[in-house]
Amino acid sequence: MNNTQLKSPPPAFAEAKNPRQKARAAGMDPNRWYVVEYDNAIKAGEVKEVTFWKTSIALYRGEDGQLAAMRNICPHRQLKLTHGAVDKCNLRCAYHGWSFSREGKLEDYSHDSFGKPLIKRQVQTYPVQVRYGLIWLFPGDPELAGEFQIPEIPELTCADPWANFVADLTWGTHHSMVMDNICDFSHAFLHRKYKPFTDAKLTHHEADENKVYLTYDTFMAGGRISGIFVDRNRVNTRHIELCYEYPYQWTNTGDSIKNWSFMLPIDEKTTRVFFLFYFDALTIPFISMKTPKWLTQLVLNIAKPLVFKPILMEDGIALEAEMEAYQNYWDEPPIELNPVVPMFQRLTARKWEDYLNRKAPTVAALAD
Ligand code: FES
Ligand SMILES: [Fe+2]
Repeated sequence: MNNTQLKSPPPAFAEAKNPRQKARAAGMDPNRWYVVEYDNAIKAGEVKEVTFWKTSIALYRGEDGQLAAMRNICPHRQLKLTHGAVDKCNLRCAYHGWSFSREGKLEDYSHDSFGKPLIKRQVQTYPVQVRYGLIWLFPGDPELAGEFQIPEIPELTCADPWANFVADLTWGTHHSMVMDNICDFSHAFLHRKYKPFTDAKLTHHEADENKVYLTYDTFMAGGRISGIFVDRNRVNTRHIELCYEYPYQWTNTGDSIKNWSFMLPIDEKTTRVFFLFYFDALTIPFISMKTPKWLTQLVLNIAKPLVFKPILMEDGIALEAEMEAYQNYWDEPPIELNPVVPMFQRLTARKWEDYLNRKAPTVAALAD
């Protein structure tokens, strides 16, 4: 056999043969709310490109402070509108200066003396809202936006919200690999330096059409730095609940340390993940006193670059290596020891299939 022969790429969704191949080719249902950016990353008068599953979106904040999002293509010569600039509450294209309102309507083409452009089609817009300091966007059918909710996090919306932070990473990997990673605690070896979890034993798992719920008995936060701040008398750090609640993921350790992971699928090989962590309190080392909120927040702010980010970067290295390997070995039989992993893959694939089926006009409908 010729060694220089190129290996065929992984199969497309329709050709995929097993749950792993299906999941690795699946997108995420655009008819959900997705985190696309931090609220404070876009100032009034700024525009930024964000991408949801190969669709480029111009996200901008008008001078009145309101956010808006529209398809990032000028209907005139298809330039990205993000090459342009915010003008009051509109977005103006860089090339001929056409200006679009936040409803996607062409409002001004006065820079052109060649007459009125004959366009019927407006620029597609997307609903956006801000929760938990994050910008959420609904990339699907705007009419359905009201049917789906952003996850409720009462610990952050109550009168005395928990200390929290968000870490985000963009990885060269498929979103389904991220889900396998963040729910599967068999990879303690990768984190042997920081020991966020050790000796995990899957104790329960169940699935329905929208989620996979599981629990592990495991020793949480065993690292040298993180371990000293966790109050093991108050918080059960030997047990964790996790849930892939499509399309999000959450964890709960002893009702005191919680986390949501919000994925932004960019394309088959790129995923941005926003990890939102929140803690009710930590313990002051050696005197075993519950930390006041300001101190909890301070410790978290210090721990984010020292502990959390390095752990997540270890995951990123493994996931990018897995993605690279998958390009060559996608047809190897999957060897999976953790029974929940194929369950995540099946949920991802089924939701994508449901979306495609809803989207595609049926043969019967076409015949009508
Ligand atoms: S390409 Fe946008 S106004 Fe001409
Ligand atoms: Fe990990």
